[in-house]
Amino acid sequence: MEQQLDQQNIAMPRIGDKAPEFKAITTQGEINFPADYKDKWVILFSHPADFTPVCTSEFMTFARRENEFEALNCKLVGLSIDGLYSHIAWLRTIKEKIEFKGMKNIEVNFPLIEDITMEIAKKYGMIQPGESSTKAVRAVFFIDPEGTIRAIIYYPLSLGRNFDELKRALIAMQTADKYSIATPADWQPGDDVIVPPAGSCGVAKDRMENKEEMTCYDWFFCTKPLNLDKE
Ligand code: BEZ
Repeated sequence: MEQQLDQQNIAMPRIGDKAPEFKAITTQGEINFPADYKDKWVILFSHPADFTPVCTSEFMTFARRENEFEALNCKLVGLSIDGLYSHIAWLRTIKEKIEFKGMKNIEVNFPLIEDITMEIAKKYGMIQPGESSTKAVRAVFFIDPEGTIRAIIYYPLSLGRNFDELKRALIAMQTADKYSIATPADWQPGDDVIVPPAGSCGVAKDRMENKEEMTCYDWFFCTKPLNLDKE
């Protein structure tokens, strides 16, 4: 789908769009995005700058939890509008010197994209001039195995991300895809899920008469446990 560009050529990709394509140099070599990630989920995220405290805490946390995302078939890819040598120096400093909240000797093994020209950041709406025109905001793009953008979260420069929430959102989307359900507010894996709305008067009536195995708060709002054994 064609991207809307503002006066500074900043596109704002939307949920449901195909992830904009790019080739990039990263701390793990060149990548061709999203082609290199076929059949995987990807969390593509930006941070404002290397050698800054909030970003350092985020990178350490993401690196420590990378195996949890890997177990969910999800790859991590970071980006900032710094150069490759800055990225390398920062990641070396993190590994060699930084101890934070019990994390130390943390090695960042996922790719960190160099984007000094801001070309990629602008394609993804990571530059938001009201916040900063020289730094990427903290954007998070969830991209599914078909290369479609499924969720986008933006945070300002001052706000470090919540990694439990990123993982919860990923699991919720994967669960919704697999079981054709939706997830209610504050859903956590194992909680009851929302059954799609009744599509006919008959189904609505059956649900209210408890003919289906679910809990209905009204005809349009029913939940059920996920019987994972029945797969
Ligand atoms: C930080 O990562 O600490 C940070 C970066 C840019 C602005 C404010 C904080």
